[in-house]
Amino acid sequence: MYGMVNKAIEDLVTHMKGPAAWQALKRDAGVDLETFVGMDQYDDDVTYRLVGAASRMLEIPSDEVLEAFGEYWTIYTAKKGYGHMMTAAGGGVFEVLENLDSMHTRLSMLYPDMRIPQFRLVREATGQALLSYESQRDGLGSMVIGLVKGLGKRFGTPVVVEWVERREEGAAVDRFRVSLEA
Ligand code: HEM
Repeated sequence: MYGMVNKAIEDLVTHMKGPAAWQALKRDAGVDLETFVGMDQYDDDVTYRLVGAASRMLEIPSDEVLEAFGEYWTIYTAKKGYGHMMTAAGGGVFEVLENLDSMHTRLSMLYPDMRIPQFRLVREATGQALLSYESQRDGLGSMVIGLVKGLGKRFGTPVVVEWVERREEGAAVDRFRVSLEA
């Protein structure tokens, strides 16, 4: 993944636990790099190892780390100057989710080797929709949950996200039911 993702993990851990904890976490993950370069590509394994080490350090399951990271990503990207892209993508959680693929496609002009995930939102009822997520990567479903919750916070509309079909359990794609809390 692009270094920007690993930098966001660094930012989150440093905010939560301080710089010394980040150095210890990198050692535990076997990552022997001083800094990540946002525009450089790193093996996905580096990201997964950082998540594993964060899970050990915080004593929470990796899925919880991924969810917290997903939520943080919506804050981090806004802080790093990409907020306008999310604003342009729509004025609410469902609108942004509907426009995510074109937003990522636009981002791929900056990050040409991105492996873009594919999302599809089907509205089911007022305030409720089914989100499908297709990826070339495994194991990031919990991150999607955090991302959608982060969008909910961004728009001041808390959401409940339920993982209803799981690829790791044999489903064709991951699907989430997203409900906006009234
Ligand atoms: C402006 C905000 C955003 C920026 C700048 C951004 C950018 C990126 C970048 C650079 C990657 C790494 C791709 C790679 O290295 O192959 C990525 C991956 C991803 N993004 Fe976004 N993104 C944003 C918002 C979102 C939102 C709101 C969602 C909500 C669901 C989302 C879902 C994902 C997922 C799930 C991945 C993992 C890729 C995979 O499944 O392989 N992103 N994004």
